[in-house]
Amino acid sequence: MSLKRLYIKTYGCASNVYDSSRMVDVLKPLGYALTETPENADLVILNTCHIREKAEEKVYSDLGRIRAHKQEKTIVAVGGCMAQAEGGEIIRRAPYVDMVFGPQTYHRLPEMIARAHRSQDKKTGSGRGIVEVDFPVESKFDYLPGEHSHVGSSAFLAIQEGCDKFCTYCVVPYTRGAEFSRPPQAILEEAKLLLEQGAKEITLLGQNVNAYHGEDPTGAIWGLGRLIEALAALKGLRRIRYMTSHPRDMDDELMIAHRDIPQLMPSMHLPVQSGSERILKAMNRQHTPDFYKKIIEKTRQYRPDIAFSSDFIVGFPGETDQDFEDTLSLVREVSYSQAYSFKYSPRPGTPGAVMDNQISEDVKAERLMRLQELLNTQQRAFNESTIGKTMPVLLDRKGSREGQGLGKTPYAQSVHIDVPAELFGECIDVKIEKAFANSVTGSVL
Ligand code: 5AD
Ligand code: SF4
Repeated sequence: MSLKRLYIKTYGCASNVYDSSRMVDVLKPLGYALTETPENADLVILNTCHIREKAEEKVYSDLGRIRAHKQEKTIVAVGGCMAQAEGGEIIRRAPYVDMVFGPQTYHRLPEMIARAHRSQDKKTGSGRGIVEVDFPVESKFDYLPGEHSHVGSSAFLAIQEGCDKFCTYCVVPYTRGAEFSRPPQAILEEAKLLLEQGAKEITLLGQNVNAYHGEDPTGAIWGLGRLIEALAALKGLRRIRYMTSHPRDMDDELMIAHRDIPQLMPSMHLPVQSGSERILKAMNRQHTPDFYKKIIEKTRQYRPDIAFSSDFIVGFPGETDQDFEDTLSLVREVSYSQAYSFKYSPRPGTPGAVMDNQISEDVKAERLMRLQELLNTQQRAFNESTIGKTMPVLLDRKGSREGQGLGKTPYAQSVHIDVPAELFGECIDVKIEKAFANSVTGSVL
Protein backbone atom coordinates (compact mmCIF):
# COMPACT_ATOMS: atom_id res chain seq x y z
CA MET A 1 0.00 0.00 0.00
CA SER A 2 1.51 3.29 -1.01
CA LEU A 3 1.66 6.08 1.50
CA LYS A 4 -0.77 8.89 0.83
CA ARG A 5 -0.63 12.32 2.35
CA LEU A 6 -3.61 13.73 4.21
CA TYR A 7 -3.98 17.36 5.16
CA ILE A 8 -6.83 18.33 7.50
CA LYS A 9 -7.68 21.81 8.64
CA THR A 10 -10.15 22.10 11.50
CA TYR A 11 -12.40 25.10 12.10
CA GLY A 12 -14.80 25.68 15.01
CA CYS A 13 -15.37 23.77 18.20
CA ALA A 14 -13.92 20.84 20.12
CA SER A 15 -16.42 18.47 18.49
CA ASN A 16 -14.81 19.30 15.17
CA VAL A 17 -11.35 18.66 16.63
CA TYR A 18 -12.56 15.24 17.76
CA ASP A 19 -14.17 14.54 14.38
CA SER A 20 -10.98 15.48 12.53
CA SER A 21 -8.94 13.10 14.65
CA ARG A 22 -11.48 10.34 13.98
CA MET A 23 -11.25 11.03 10.23
CA VAL A 24 -7.51 10.41 10.50
CA ASP A 25 -8.30 7.09 12.24
CA VAL A 26 -10.80 6.09 9.54
CA LEU A 27 -8.31 6.88 6.77
CA LYS A 28 -5.23 5.28 8.32
CA PRO A 29 -6.06 1.75 7.06
CA LEU A 30 -6.18 3.20 3.55
CA GLY A 31 -2.56 4.32 3.87
CA TYR A 32 -3.18 8.00 4.63
CA ALA A 33 -0.77 9.76 6.99
CA LEU A 34 -1.01 13.35 8.17
CA THR A 35 1.01 16.08 6.52
CA GLU A 36 1.46 19.66 7.73
CA THR A 37 0.72 21.55 4.54
CA PRO A 38 -1.87 21.21 1.78
CA GLU A 39 0.62 21.70 -1.08
CA ASN A 40 1.59 18.09 -1.69
CA ALA A 41 -1.35 16.36 -0.08
CA ASP A 42 -3.26 13.64 -1.92
CA LEU A 43 -6.33 14.41 0.12
CA VAL A 44 -7.21 17.81 1.57
CA ILE A 45 -10.07 17.98 4.08
CA LEU A 46 -11.44 21.22 5.46
CA ASN A 47 -13.53 20.34 8.51
CA THR A 48 -15.71 23.41 8.67
CA CYS A 49 -17.87 25.37 11.09
CA HIS A 50 -21.11 27.19 10.37
CA ILE A 51 -21.75 28.94 13.67
CA ARG A 52 -21.03 32.50 12.52
CA GLU A 53 -20.62 34.07 9.12
CA LYS A 54 -16.91 34.71 9.68
CA ALA A 55 -16.16 31.00 9.97
CA GLU A 56 -17.67 30.48 6.55
CA GLU A 57 -15.84 33.30 4.77
CA LYS A 58 -12.58 31.87 6.01
CA VAL A 59 -13.31 28.51 4.37
CA TYR A 60 -13.94 30.04 0.95
CA SER A 61 -10.75 32.07 1.14
CA ASP A 62 -8.77 28.97 2.20
CA LEU A 63 -10.37 26.99 -0.64
CA GLY A 64 -9.16 29.61 -3.12
CA ARG A 65 -5.60 29.18 -1.88
CA ILE A 66 -5.83 25.38 -2.02
CA ARG A 67 -7.07 25.52 -5.58
CA ALA A 68 -3.92 27.36 -6.63
CA HIS A 69 -1.72 24.35 -5.91
CA LYS A 70 -4.21 21.54 -6.40
CA GLN A 71 -2.71 18.77 -8.54
CA GLU A 72 -4.85 16.87 -10.96
CA LYS A 73 -5.26 13.87 -8.64
CA THR A 74 -5.63 15.77 -5.36
CA ILE A 75 -8.99 15.24 -3.75
CA VAL A 76 -10.37 18.36 -2.09
CA ALA A 77 -13.08 17.66 0.48
CA VAL A 78 -15.20 19.99 2.56
CA GLY A 79 -16.63 18.34 5.67
CA GLY A 80 -18.28 19.48 8.87
CA CYS A 81 -21.12 21.84 9.69
CA MET A 82 -20.83 24.31 6.81
CA ALA A 83 -20.75 21.35 4.42
CA GLN A 84 -23.92 20.02 6.03
CA ALA A 85 -25.66 23.38 5.72
CA GLU A 86 -24.58 24.30 2.19
CA GLY A 87 -24.26 20.90 0.53
CA GLY A 88 -23.94 21.12 -3.25
CA GLU A 89 -23.83 24.92 -3.13
CA ILE A 90 -20.16 24.63 -2.15
CA ILE A 91 -19.40 22.75 -5.38
CA ARG A 92 -21.33 25.29 -7.44
CA ARG A 93 -19.25 28.07 -5.91
CA ALA A 94 -15.99 26.10 -5.96
CA PRO A 95 -16.27 23.46 -8.74
CA TYR A 96 -12.79 22.08 -7.97
CA VAL A 97 -14.17 20.65 -4.70
CA ASP A 98 -14.52 16.87 -5.13
CA MET A 99 -16.44 15.95 -1.99
CA VAL A 100 -18.83 17.55 0.46
CA PHE A 101 -19.82 15.62 3.58
CA GLY A 102 -21.54 16.41 6.87
CA PRO A 103 -20.50 15.71 10.47
CA GLN A 104 -22.51 12.48 10.63
CA THR A 105 -21.19 10.76 7.50
CA TYR A 106 -17.42 10.73 7.80
CA HIS A 107 -17.32 7.01 8.63
CA ARG A 108 -18.18 6.63 4.93
CA LEU A 109 -15.04 8.47 3.82
CA PRO A 110 -13.28 5.41 2.32
CA GLU A 111 -16.21 4.74 0.05
CA MET A 112 -16.62 8.44 -0.82
CA ILE A 113 -12.93 8.68 -1.73
CA ALA A 114 -13.18 5.65 -4.02
CA ARG A 115 -16.14 7.27 -5.76
CA ALA A 116 -14.31 10.59 -6.03
CA HIS A 117 -11.36 8.85 -7.73
CA ARG A 118 -13.69 7.11 -10.15
CA SER A 119 -15.40 10.31 -11.13
CA GLN A 120 -12.03 12.10 -11.49
CA ASP A 121 -10.93 9.31 -13.86
CA LYS A 122 -14.06 9.73 -15.94
CA LYS A 123 -13.29 13.45 -16.12
CA THR A 124 -16.94 14.26 -16.21
CA GLY A 125 -16.12 17.87 -15.45
CA SER A 126 -18.53 19.93 -13.40
CA GLY A 127 -21.19 18.05 -11.52
CA ARG A 128 -18.80 15.24 -10.72
CA GLY A 129 -18.57 16.20 -7.04
CA ILE A 130 -19.87 13.91 -4.32
CA VAL A 131 -22.29 15.26 -1.76
CA GLU A 132 -23.11 13.22 1.38
CA VAL A 133 -25.18 15.34 3.70
CA ASP A 134 -27.99 13.07 4.80
CA PHE A 135 -28.35 12.04 8.42
CA PRO A 136 -27.68 8.31 8.07
CA VAL A 137 -29.74 5.76 9.99
CA GLU A 138 -26.54 4.13 11.21
CA SER A 139 -24.43 5.95 13.77
CA LYS A 140 -20.91 6.88 12.70
CA PHE A 141 -19.71 5.76 16.14
CA ASP A 142 -20.53 2.14 15.31
CA TYR A 143 -18.17 2.31 12.32
CA LEU A 144 -15.20 4.21 13.71
CA PRO A 145 -12.12 2.21 14.73
CA GLY A 146 -11.79 1.64 18.50
CA GLU A 147 -8.24 2.92 18.72
CA HIS A 148 -7.31 6.53 18.11
CA SER A 149 -4.10 6.92 16.15
CA HIS A 150 -2.84 10.02 17.99
CA VAL A 151 -3.48 10.31 21.72
CA GLY A 152 -1.98 13.01 23.90
CA SER A 153 -2.20 13.31 27.68
CA SER A 154 -5.46 15.22 27.26
CA ALA A 155 -8.03 13.60 24.97
CA PHE A 156 -11.51 14.35 23.67
CA LEU A 157 -14.30 11.79 23.69
CA ALA A 158 -17.64 12.51 21.99
CA ILE A 159 -20.51 11.10 24.05
CA GLN A 160 -23.45 13.04 22.68
CA GLU A 161 -24.30 14.67 19.37
CA GLY A 162 -26.78 17.14 18.07
CA CYS A 163 -29.37 19.33 19.68
CA ASP A 164 -33.15 19.49 19.98
CA LYS A 165 -33.37 22.89 21.66
CA PHE A 166 -33.58 25.17 18.61
CA CYS A 167 -32.29 28.42 20.04
CA THR A 168 -33.37 30.95 17.44
CA TYR A 169 -29.81 32.12 16.62
CA CYS A 170 -28.26 28.70 16.24
CA VAL A 171 -27.46 26.41 13.32
CA VAL A 172 -26.43 23.38 15.37
CA PRO A 173 -29.79 21.53 15.32
CA TYR A 174 -29.65 21.78 11.50
CA THR A 175 -25.97 20.95 11.03
CA ARG A 176 -25.50 18.21 13.62
CA GLY A 177 -29.05 16.91 13.65
CA ALA A 178 -31.22 15.53 16.44
CA GLU A 179 -29.94 14.84 19.90
CA PHE A 180 -28.34 11.43 20.31
CA SER A 181 -26.44 9.80 23.20
CA ARG A 182 -23.91 7.02 22.75
CA PRO A 183 -24.40 3.94 24.96
CA PRO A 184 -22.33 4.12 28.18
CA GLN A 185 -20.53 0.83 27.45
CA ALA A 186 -19.20 2.12 24.12
CA ILE A 187 -17.97 5.28 25.85
CA LEU A 188 -16.27 3.32 28.63
CA GLU A 189 -14.56 1.11 26.03
CA GLU A 190 -13.29 4.11 24.10
CA ALA A 191 -12.13 5.73 27.34
CA LYS A 192 -10.19 2.58 28.31
CA LEU A 193 -8.41 2.58 24.97
CA LEU A 194 -7.56 6.27 25.32
CA LEU A 195 -6.09 5.60 28.76
CA GLU A 196 -4.08 2.63 27.49
CA GLN A 197 -2.74 4.95 24.80
CA GLY A 198 -1.54 7.47 27.37
CA ALA A 199 -4.44 9.85 28.06
CA LYS A 200 -4.62 11.19 31.61
CA GLU A 201 -7.45 13.63 31.09
CA ILE A 202 -10.65 13.04 29.11
CA THR A 203 -12.99 15.82 28.07
CA LEU A 204 -16.45 14.48 27.29
CA LEU A 205 -17.94 16.28 24.33
CA GLY A 206 -21.39 17.05 23.07
CA GLN A 207 -23.22 20.08 21.74
CA ASN A 208 -25.58 19.51 24.67
CA VAL A 209 -23.41 17.29 26.78
CA ASN A 210 -25.37 17.44 30.02
CA ALA A 211 -28.50 16.30 28.18
CA TYR A 212 -26.64 12.98 27.95
CA HIS A 213 -29.01 10.04 28.45
CA GLY A 214 -27.31 6.86 27.28
CA GLU A 215 -29.02 3.48 27.47
CA ASP A 216 -27.11 0.55 28.97
CA PRO A 217 -27.68 -3.11 27.99
CA THR A 218 -30.34 -3.54 30.72
CA GLY A 219 -32.34 -0.66 29.29
CA ALA A 220 -31.44 1.70 32.14
CA ILE A 221 -30.80 5.31 31.19
CA TRP A 222 -27.63 6.91 32.46
CA GLY A 223 -27.31 10.64 33.00
CA LEU A 224 -24.00 12.47 32.74
CA GLY A 225 -23.38 12.24 36.50
CA ARG A 226 -23.63 8.45 36.44
CA LEU A 227 -21.41 8.21 33.38
CA ILE A 228 -18.76 10.37 35.05
CA GLU A 229 -18.89 8.18 38.15
CA ALA A 230 -18.27 5.07 36.03
CA LEU A 231 -15.44 6.77 34.14
CA ALA A 232 -13.82 7.87 37.39
CA ALA A 233 -13.43 4.20 38.34
CA LEU A 234 -11.20 3.55 35.31
CA LYS A 235 -7.56 3.08 36.20
CA GLY A 236 -5.30 5.93 35.17
CA LEU A 237 -7.95 8.56 34.54
CA ARG A 238 -6.74 11.58 36.48
CA ARG A 239 -9.07 14.26 35.16
CA ILE A 240 -12.56 14.46 33.71
CA ARG A 241 -14.09 17.50 32.06
CA TYR A 242 -17.16 17.97 29.89
CA MET A 243 -18.60 20.56 27.51
CA THR A 244 -20.88 22.23 26.47
CA SER A 245 -23.78 22.27 28.91
CA HIS A 246 -27.24 23.83 28.81
CA PRO A 247 -28.72 25.33 32.01
CA ARG A 248 -32.02 23.50 31.45
CA ASP A 249 -30.27 20.10 31.55
CA MET A 250 -28.39 20.58 34.82
CA ASP A 251 -29.47 17.98 37.37
CA ASP A 252 -28.57 17.25 40.98
CA GLU A 253 -26.68 14.12 40.05
CA LEU A 254 -24.21 16.15 38.02
CA MET A 255 -23.86 18.85 40.67
CA ILE A 256 -23.28 16.18 43.32
CA ALA A 257 -20.66 14.58 41.08
CA HIS A 258 -18.74 17.87 41.35
CA ARG A 259 -18.74 17.43 45.12
CA ASP A 260 -17.97 13.70 45.28
CA ILE A 261 -15.75 12.79 42.37
CA PRO A 262 -12.21 14.08 42.82
CA GLN A 263 -11.28 13.46 39.18
CA LEU A 264 -14.09 15.74 37.99
CA MET A 265 -12.44 19.14 37.55
CA PRO A 266 -13.94 22.15 39.36
CA SER A 267 -14.83 24.10 36.26
CA MET A 268 -17.97 24.27 34.20
CA HIS A 269 -18.76 25.89 30.87
CA LEU A 270 -22.38 26.92 31.21
CA PRO A 271 -23.40 29.40 28.49
CA VAL A 272 -26.12 31.90 29.33
CA GLN A 273 -25.97 34.06 26.13
CA SER A 274 -27.83 37.02 27.66
CA GLY A 275 -28.88 38.41 31.03
CA SER A 276 -32.17 39.79 29.74
CA GLU A 277 -35.31 37.78 30.33
CA ARG A 278 -36.91 39.26 27.21
CA ILE A 279 -33.95 38.40 24.99
CA LEU A 280 -33.59 34.90 26.42
CA LYS A 281 -37.23 34.38 25.50
CA ALA A 282 -36.67 35.67 21.97
CA MET A 283 -33.66 33.37 21.75
CA ASN A 284 -35.90 30.44 22.82
CA ARG A 285 -33.37 29.54 25.49
CA GLN A 286 -36.09 28.00 27.66
CA HIS A 287 -34.65 29.53 30.84
CA THR A 288 -34.72 32.88 32.60
CA PRO A 289 -31.75 34.74 34.08
CA ASP A 290 -33.04 33.81 37.55
CA PHE A 291 -33.20 30.13 36.72
CA TYR A 292 -29.61 30.31 35.48
CA LYS A 293 -28.39 32.13 38.58
CA LYS A 294 -30.09 29.54 40.80
CA ILE A 295 -28.28 26.73 39.01
CA ILE A 296 -24.97 28.52 39.55
CA GLU A 297 -25.75 29.10 43.20
CA LYS A 298 -26.80 25.50 43.76
CA THR A 299 -23.72 24.09 42.04
CA ARG A 300 -21.57 26.37 44.18
CA GLN A 301 -23.24 24.96 47.28
CA TYR A 302 -22.02 21.51 46.30
CA ARG A 303 -18.63 22.68 45.10
CA PRO A 304 -17.81 26.17 46.43
CA ASP A 305 -14.61 26.67 44.45
CA ILE A 306 -16.09 25.72 41.04
CA ALA A 307 -15.07 28.15 38.28
CA PHE A 308 -17.72 29.08 35.73
CA SER A 309 -17.25 30.06 32.13
CA SER A 310 -19.89 31.12 29.66
CA ASP A 311 -20.76 32.24 26.14
CA PHE A 312 -22.50 35.52 25.36
CA ILE A 313 -24.15 36.94 22.28
CA VAL A 314 -24.58 40.72 22.02
CA GLY A 315 -26.90 42.45 19.59
CA PHE A 316 -29.51 39.75 19.18
CA PRO A 317 -32.51 41.22 17.30
CA GLY A 318 -34.48 43.59 19.55
CA GLU A 319 -31.76 43.92 22.21
CA THR A 320 -32.19 47.34 23.86
CA ASP A 321 -29.66 49.24 25.97
CA GLN A 322 -31.54 48.00 29.02
CA ASP A 323 -31.34 44.36 27.86
CA PHE A 324 -27.63 44.77 27.42
CA GLU A 325 -27.30 46.36 30.88
CA ASP A 326 -29.08 43.27 32.23
CA THR A 327 -26.35 41.13 30.68
CA LEU A 328 -23.66 43.23 32.36
CA SER A 329 -25.49 42.92 35.70
CA LEU A 330 -25.70 39.16 35.38
CA VAL A 331 -21.98 38.99 34.64
CA ARG A 332 -21.24 41.09 37.72
CA GLU A 333 -23.46 38.87 39.85
CA VAL A 334 -22.12 35.52 38.68
CA SER A 335 -18.46 36.42 38.18
CA TYR A 336 -16.75 34.27 35.58
CA SER A 337 -13.28 32.79 35.41
CA GLN A 338 -13.41 32.78 31.59
CA ALA A 339 -15.87 33.66 28.85
CA TYR A 340 -16.41 33.87 25.12
CA SER A 341 -18.51 36.66 23.66
CA PHE A 342 -19.71 37.26 20.14
CA LYS A 343 -21.63 39.74 18.03
CA TYR A 344 -24.87 38.19 16.87
CA SER A 345 -24.45 36.80 13.37
CA PRO A 346 -27.70 36.14 11.48
CA ARG A 347 -27.54 32.60 10.11
CA PRO A 348 -29.55 31.56 7.06
CA GLY A 349 -32.40 29.24 7.95
CA THR A 350 -32.62 30.25 11.62
CA PRO A 351 -35.61 32.21 13.02
CA GLY A 352 -33.35 35.01 14.31
CA ALA A 353 -32.13 35.84 10.82
CA VAL A 354 -35.60 36.90 9.68
CA MET A 355 -36.55 38.88 12.78
CA ASP A 356 -37.21 42.44 11.74
CA ASN A 357 -35.49 44.30 14.58
CA GLN A 358 -31.86 43.57 13.68
CA ILE A 359 -29.22 45.58 15.55
CA SER A 360 -26.66 47.68 13.68
CA GLU A 361 -23.03 46.51 13.49
CA ASP A 362 -21.87 49.68 15.30
CA VAL A 363 -24.09 49.01 18.29
CA LYS A 364 -23.04 45.36 18.37
CA ALA A 365 -19.37 46.34 18.27
CA GLU A 366 -19.76 48.88 21.04
CA ARG A 367 -21.63 46.43 23.29
CA LEU A 368 -19.14 43.67 22.62
CA MET A 369 -16.29 45.96 23.63
CA ARG A 370 -17.97 46.90 26.91
CA LEU A 371 -18.87 43.30 27.73
CA GLN A 372 -15.39 42.05 26.95
CA GLU A 373 -13.85 44.73 29.13
CA LEU A 374 -15.87 43.49 32.08
CA LEU A 375 -15.23 39.81 31.32
CA ASN A 376 -11.49 40.44 30.94
CA THR A 377 -11.40 42.20 34.30
CA GLN A 378 -13.11 39.22 35.91
CA GLN A 379 -10.82 36.72 34.24
CA ARG A 380 -7.73 38.60 35.38
CA ALA A 381 -9.14 38.89 38.91
CA PHE A 382 -9.82 35.16 38.94
CA ASN A 383 -6.28 34.44 37.77
CA GLU A 384 -4.90 36.78 40.44
CA SER A 385 -6.95 35.02 43.12
CA THR A 386 -4.99 31.84 42.46
CA ILE A 387 -1.57 33.42 43.12
CA GLY A 388 0.13 31.61 45.99
CA LYS A 389 -1.86 28.41 45.47
CA THR A 390 -0.18 25.16 44.53
CA MET A 391 -2.11 23.29 41.88
CA PRO A 392 -1.66 20.20 39.75
CA VAL A 393 -1.07 21.22 36.14
CA LEU A 394 -1.40 18.73 33.31
CA LEU A 395 1.25 19.73 30.78
CA ASP A 396 -0.52 18.54 27.67
CA ARG A 397 1.31 20.62 25.07
CA LYS A 398 4.64 22.16 24.20
CA GLY A 399 4.75 25.94 24.29
CA SER A 400 5.95 28.13 21.44
CA ARG A 401 9.37 28.60 23.08
CA GLU A 402 11.94 25.83 23.44
CA GLY A 403 11.62 24.20 26.87
CA GLN A 404 8.23 25.75 27.54
CA GLY A 405 5.29 23.56 28.53
CA LEU A 406 1.65 24.47 28.29
CA GLY A 407 -1.01 23.09 30.55
CA LYS A 408 -4.19 23.64 32.51
CA THR A 409 -4.96 24.08 36.19
CA PRO A 410 -8.01 22.26 37.58
CA TYR A 411 -9.91 25.54 36.99
CA ALA A 412 -9.00 25.38 33.29
CA GLN A 413 -6.60 28.33 33.47
CA SER A 414 -3.78 28.13 30.94
CA VAL A 415 -0.33 27.76 32.41
CA HIS A 416 2.94 28.55 30.61
CA ILE A 417 5.96 27.18 32.36
CA ASP A 418 9.61 26.30 31.68
CA VAL A 419 10.16 22.64 32.38
CA PRO A 420 12.56 19.86 31.40
CA ALA A 421 11.31 18.01 28.32
CA GLU A 422 10.69 14.78 30.25
CA LEU A 423 7.85 16.48 32.12
CA PHE A 424 5.79 17.10 28.98
CA GLY A 425 2.61 15.07 29.23
CA GLU A 426 2.86 14.80 33.01
CA CYS A 427 0.69 16.24 35.77
CA ILE A 428 2.94 18.31 38.01
CA ASP A 429 2.47 20.54 41.05
CA VAL A 430 2.95 24.20 40.26
CA LYS A 431 3.00 27.09 42.69
CA ILE A 432 1.20 29.95 40.94
CA GLU A 433 3.25 33.13 41.18
CA LYS A 434 2.08 35.43 38.41
CA ALA A 435 -1.27 36.11 36.80
CA PHE A 436 -1.97 37.57 33.37
CA ALA A 437 -5.14 38.31 31.44
CA ASN A 438 -5.30 34.87 29.80
CA SER A 439 -2.91 32.69 31.75
CA VAL A 440 -0.88 32.14 34.88
CA THR A 441 2.65 31.00 35.55
CA GLY A 442 4.70 29.84 38.51
CA SER A 443 7.37 27.44 39.65
CA VAL A 444 7.49 23.67 39.61
CA LEU A 445 7.58 22.13 43.07
N1 5AD B 1 -24.15 34.50 16.27
C1 5AD B 1 -23.21 34.72 17.22
N2 5AD B 1 -22.83 33.80 18.10
C2 5AD B 1 -23.41 32.58 18.04
N3 5AD B 1 -23.25 31.48 18.78
C3 5AD B 1 -24.06 30.53 18.31
N4 5AD B 1 -24.78 31.00 17.26
C4 5AD B 1 -24.38 32.28 17.07
C5 5AD B 1 -24.76 33.29 16.17
N5 5AD B 1 -25.69 33.09 15.23
C6 5AD B 1 -22.36 31.42 19.95
C7 5AD B 1 -23.11 31.06 21.22
C8 5AD B 1 -22.70 29.63 21.44
C9 5AD B 1 -21.30 29.63 20.90
C10 5AD B 1 -20.76 28.28 20.57
O1 5AD B 1 -21.40 30.42 19.74
O2 5AD B 1 -22.66 31.89 22.24
O3 5AD B 1 -22.76 29.25 22.82
FE1 SF4 C 1 -19.28 25.11 14.52
FE2 SF4 C 1 -21.39 24.40 15.98
FE3 SF4 C 1 -20.59 22.80 14.10
FE4 SF4 C 1 -19.08 23.07 16.29
S1 SF4 C 1 -21.16 22.18 16.17
S2 SF4 C 1 -18.37 23.09 14.19
S3 SF4 C 1 -19.44 25.27 16.73
S4 SF4 C 1 -21.41 24.86 13.84
